[in-house]
Amino acid sequence: MKPKYNRVIIKLSGEALAGEKSFGIDPATIAEICKNIKDAKDLGVEIAIVVGGGNIFRGRDGEGIDRATADYMGMLATVINALALQDALESMGVPVRVQTAIEMKEVAEPYIRRKAMRHLEKGRIVIFASGTGNPYFSTDTTAALRAAEIDAEVILSAKKVDGVYDSDPKVNPEAKRFDVLSYIDVLNKGLKVMDSTAISLCMDNNIPVLVFGLEQPENIVKVLCGENIGTIVKEDTHD
Ligand code: GTP
Repeated sequence: MKPKYNRVIIKLSGEALAGEKSFGIDPATIAEICKNIKDAKDLGVEIAIVVGGGNIFRGRDGEGIDRATADYMGMLATVINALALQDALESMGVPVRVQTAIEMKEVAEPYIRRKAMRHLEKGRIVIFASGTGNPYFSTDTTAALRAAEIDAEVILSAKKVDGVYDSDPKVNPEAKRFDVLSYIDVLNKGLKVMDSTAISLCMDNNIPVLVFGLEQPENIVKVLCGENIGTIVKEDTHD
């Protein structure tokens, strides 16, 4: 299979790492996801990963906790996930560097854009942890920001649901999945692809977002090779 993209950001939600459990890290699930990320990398694609932290702690759900503090707690959760992913990928022989937006240099490298790009050019996977380092910004926004910074061609947003629907498919069996959407459609219809900050950043920088399900982890390779699964959010919906 021939990949359609040279450099991508894979956005993994924290929940994806929990597997059947609703909390924490499921090693078998992580191993399966990482095996597919390795297959994707073996196609010659440069891959950076942005990981969420919702399987451990999500800032906006931190009831009774000051929002900024809760967001910092969520950022720390993403570091735990990043280290778990690094460990799993390295055990498969894949070179990985973790970079954190909040400096904690005993744990991982600090985020340095040019260094991240060099790592990618050298065939390493780079995992961006601790979000943007700022409260009130989601890991989806991190994915959009890092994609713009490192010149990624697309964001592959791996979710539990296999695309973007007009209503919640778990609640409404008639829910219809979109094949393609424009950024402005997502914003106007209030679709829950990403938060509006993240979508706006993608729109302003013309970064397409491919939303797909991770139930079959081989979907990562499929979307990279241009197979039409899930939903693509982009500027021009006619081409
Ligand atoms: P090159 O410059 O291409 O040699 O990249 P490299 O990442 O192999 O070299 P470097 O000597 O920078 O890093 C060696 C190892 O140390 C890698 O696993 C890095 O992730 C890690 N490392 C580098 N800088 C830091 C840091 O500030 N903190 C921590 N914890 N690890 C670091």
